[in-house]
Amino acid sequence: MQIIILPTADDVAHYAADRVADVVNTHGNPVLGLATGSTPIALYQELVARYQANALSFKGCVSFNLDEYIGIPDTHNQSYRAFMDHHLFEQIDIERTNTHVPLAEATDVKALEHSAKAYELAIQQAGGIDLQILGIGVNGHIGFNEPTSSFASRTRIKTLSKSTVEANKRFFSDDEFQPHLALTMGIGTILQAKAVLLMATGKGKADAVKAMVEGPLSSMCPASVLQQHERATIVLDEDAASELA
Ligand code: F6R
Repeated sequence: MQIIILPTADDVAHYAADRVADVVNTHGNPVLGLATGSTPIALYQELVARYQANALSFKGCVSFNLDEYIGIPDTHNQSYRAFMDHHLFEQIDIERTNTHVPLAEATDVKALEHSAKAYELAIQQAGGIDLQILGIGVNGHIGFNEPTSSFASRTRIKTLSKSTVEANKRFFSDDEFQPHLALTMGIGTILQAKAVLLMATGKGKADAVKAMVEGPLSSMCPASVLQQHERATIVLDEDAASELA
């Protein structure tokens, strides 16, 4: 696990954009693993800026997102498909058919399980993920792999923990349905990425970052599993790193 501490969240976004650009420019068929949430927005803004400046092209790139809510349609403004379309895909030259977000609109379990299996197969058929971008939940989750998730887990249905529902409340209005279920890549899926880059910014993440980096390897802090990945980089701003010894 390589730890990089940079002064500001902007520096974190620039560092992450450099890593993405490196994969995009050096791999024949780059496969990116992408995340949603507040943390990577600055990264996506930087990638869009580089595309607009003709410094980066995503033609030929394939992407797989970590997760999607169950219980709201793709067209819902809080779906992760809508998030990615808005913050990145519609602003760059990636082929829409090359962008993958777990399909989680089905309402019956069998269909969702089928969708999860198909997602795993699609990642495999694309040749695996070259660089997986991650954020970290305040409870140490990666993707929607909540505490106690198996380190061997694959893409599957997951119930969101109370702290995750609470943390994501800010995106839904009071009278709006907020999903408590998601389809998420598993920890085993994430660990198969050839390289992983976890971004964390802000004081709110400092405790989770400490547990991930200095705590024991434990399913109570799913991100601690990255201690075992050969090519995992944790890039932090000073606030997120503030509890590290
Ligand atoms: C998002 C995801 C989550 C987030 C995490 C942090 O696709 O899988 O693990 O990365 O909840 O979210 P933010 O960045 O909003 O604090």
